[in-house]
Amino acid sequence: MKPKILAFAGSARSASYNKMLAAVAAAHGRAIGADVTLIDLRDFPMPIYDGDVEAASGLPAAALRFRELLVEHDGLLVASPEHNGSVTALLKNTLDWASRPAGGIDGLALFRGKTVGLMAASLSPFGGLRSVTHLRGILSKLGANVLADEVLVAGAQGAFDETGGLTNELSNKLTAQLVATLAANVRRMHAP
Ligand SMILES: Cc1cc2nc3c(=O)[nH]c(=O)nc-3n(C[C@H](O)[C@H](O)[C@H](O)COP(=O)(O)O)c2cc1C
Repeated sequence: MKPKILAFAGSARSASYNKMLAAVAAAHGRAIGADVTLIDLRDFPMPIYDGDVEAASGLPAAALRFRELLVEHDGLLVASPEHNGSVTALLKNTLDWASRPAGGIDGLALFRGKTVGLMAASLSPFGGLRSVTHLRGILSKLGANVLADEVLVAGAQGAFDETGGLTNELSNKLTAQLVATLAANVRRMHAP
């Protein structure tokens, strides 16, 4: 079977290094026969989660669209920037809205058992490690199966070439390996 993988970055910025990293990972996935959907969270605008807004009008349309994508995919590739030592508000807010019940479906069910590969690109020498560590905790809490391997790209300002490729051979190899592990896990889950 063709693993269906949803890839996205936790940054809306047009020139986001994490968007570039998600695109590199998506290309590696396609190269090994996975069906990868690369989305931009800028196309999924949601207000900051507010229980009163939810009670009055339910989930925002963008959250419902994001949830549909979760249903349609077996695995996730997430590249998250680090903001003040944690995940970005954009990413956390997206996950918070998506995790709410809607249309008779428990939001947590959308994450349960989903295989996730985590990555981060950051300007710092630590490569967004704290962001990935926090995200690991959040997604595990949501019931996802987060892979032990992760990709950290430090000094992101010099880590990509003009085509968006990773300049460091080892970083590129580790990204390919993460995607291959993710695809293999998804295939194993679907094995009879
Ligand atoms: C509000 C804010 C907080 C940040 N905090 C951190 C941080 O704690 N650690 C870090 O490595 N970089 C931090 N940065 C710098 C990001 O690594 C940098 O903006 C990076 O380019 C963001 O990823 P993007 O290019 O995908 O948007 C911060 C940036 C912003 C805007």
